[in-house]
Amino acid sequence: MRDRFPTGPDTGQQIPFGQIICQDNLAFMRTLPDACCDLIYADPPFFSGKRQSRPGSPHTIADQWPNGLDGYLAFLRPRLDQLHRLLKPTGSLYVHLDWHAVHYVKVILDGIFGYQAFANEIIWSYRTGGVSTRWFARKHDTILVYARQVGRQKFNVLRQGAYRTDGLNYDHRGRPYKNTKAGRLYFHPDGPALTDVWDIPFLSTVSRQRVGYPTQKPEALLERIIQASTDPGDCVADFFSGSGTTPAVAQRLGRTWLACDNSPHAVRLARKRLSLAPGKAQPSAIKAWKQQRSRKGAKPQSGNRCGQDHGSD
Ligand SMILES: C[S@@+](CC[C@H](N)C(=O)[O-])C[C@H]1O[C@@H](n2cnc3c(N)ncnc32)[C@H](O)[C@@H]1O
Repeated sequence: MRDRFPTGPDTGQQIPFGQIICQDNLAFMRTLPDACCDLIYADPPFFSGKRQSRPGSPHTIADQWPNGLDGYLAFLRPRLDQLHRLLKPTGSLYVHLDWHAVHYVKVILDGIFGYQAFANEIIWSYRTGGVSTRWFARKHDTILVYARQVGRQKFNVLRQGAYRTDGLNYDHRGRPYKNTKAGRLYFHPDGPALTDVWDIPFLSTVSRQRVGYPTQKPEALLERIIQASTDPGDCVADFFSGSGTTPAVAQRLGRTWLACDNSPHAVRLARKRLSLAPGKAQPSAIKAWKQQRSRKGAKPQSGNRCGQDHGSD
């Protein structure tokens, strides 16, 4: 038990790496020590005003707020404060929203992280059915990206696709180049760097990835986020983990993970998904905590409170 759930370095709290915790995320985050995450992906309710469900699925998500936008922002604000506290100085936060509230949340995040720490507004563009005769069809979500400390965030350039330039040649080693007045201008052989507009298909109703959760996100989206902002062995956290997309992808990519959701249905689904997902929760972050703990001489607590109190649904 102690090997899997070591204590944080300063506080003696236990960190339930590789477990999906069924608890309100504010209460759970408050049990964690400062700076324990390399990347946090947050996909909270969007303030859509809807009850979301999928045909044939028992899972519904109520995204309705008694005091309207004020009530929604009052819910989110202390949680965003915690996300900031939990990030390492080299860490990044990705907050996934849509047009309903993203502009209000951006202002709150600027206040917490600092305007300069805003790194990207990623547009996830998708094609789904449905058109509007009153305005342009709304076919994108927005993901706000913040660095915990300006300029210190880990970032791996991702490359994909083909160059959209005329007159591309290839040399004898297959490297792409263009002839210019100054000579050959070489392009990166792995293709162009990803921009902040991502074309990734929405999960179709018959997708093999579907586990029956209304707001499930495509794994391709999380793959990009995790690969861009972490290296193998780093800790990826998701405190609105829903059907477990983030931990499933983190595990497959060899990252350690922390996950939480307050819906017993979601947690049950995610645990099943994780039990079938390839990969194992990586031990390197756990080892790092153990080393820090033994250097500081902190005593481990017995048992795992989160796992015992909240681990079952
Ligand atoms: C948009 S969904 C996340 C979907 C997820 N990214 C996926 O791919 O399945 C938001 C999730 O936040 C959870 N949630 C809402 N309020 C919460 C709270 N206070 N504590 C923990 N989880 C919460 C909901 O149960 C829901 O599963």
